Amino acid sequence: MPVITFANAKGGAGKTTAALILATELATQGHRVTILDADPQRWITSWHEVTGRLQNVQVISEVSMGSLQSHLRENRDQTDYFIVDLAGARDALVATAIGLSDHVFIPIQGCAMDAKGGAQILELLKQLKEKAGIAISHSVVLTRMSSVVTTRAMTAIKALLAERGVAVLDTPIAERVAFRDIFDCGGTLYTMDEGKVSNLDKARENARAFAAEVLRLVPARASRAGSLRGAFRTLRRAA
Ligand SMILES: Nc1ncnc2c1ncn2[C@@H]1O[C@H](COP(=O)(O)OP(=O)(O)OP(=O)(O)O)[C@@H](O)[C@H]1O
Ligand SMILES: [Mg+2]
Repeated sequence: MPVITFANAKGGAGKTTAALILATELATQGHRVTILDADPQRWITSWHEVTGRLQNVQVISEVSMGSLQSHLRENRDQTDYFIVDLAGARDALVATAIGLSDHVFIPIQGCAMDAKGGAQILELLKQLKEKAGIAISHSVVLTRMSSVVTTRAMTAIKALLAERGVAVLDTPIAERVAFRDIFDCGGTLYTMDEGKVSNLDKARENARAFAAEVLRLVPARASRAGSLRGAFRTLRRAA
């Protein structure tokens, strides 16, 4: 039951949207997903309230420093993937969640390339490795990409980050109405109305490609959750 966390110290980078797209896609494909909503804005909790019961999806709200580890421990038997949505901050909860993760995704808006908040998370990951000896795998996911961004521009962005040793997912998350509307409509991209939401098929295709890449990077069985307690102790010392 791997723990996947979305983090960017800057608000509005697209963390919650990417987390929900991944969670609903994995659930649709039959994986049991537990979303830990550690974002004080509680967007995923609100989405879940609108949605009602959804197969393979469990949402836990009010996640704090103190409760994070027990949520992971108590739900691991009924969870294939934990997905943690964090606030746009760089605080102790963010550091703890990152330290307990199997993989951290850092969403960065492709169009703006305002990577400052992302850089803060990369710095935090570096400190965890150097000071606490905890190496967490991570990658940048470009979000809100406009369809006019060319393959050449993408390649250039990836090369820039690769120079700094940062992996970037091949699949960017496009700017799509469906990815915004899902929060109001509730449900998944597959329960939304094709007649009402433009380019829903393209949004679904994007979500599938994104999830496929995540599944390759973070296979269901690989997890550090077994050593959670030790990692948590180390983190408390490092914080
Ligand atoms: N791929 C996308 N397509 C369309 N709209 C998007 C996309 N990603 C994000 N948005 C919109 O951008 C805004 C910010 O996105 P989101 O809430 O996902 O960011 P966040 O990083 O979770 O922000 P915060 O730090 O405030 O929690 C929202 O209005 C959301 O609907
Ligand atoms: Mg958010």
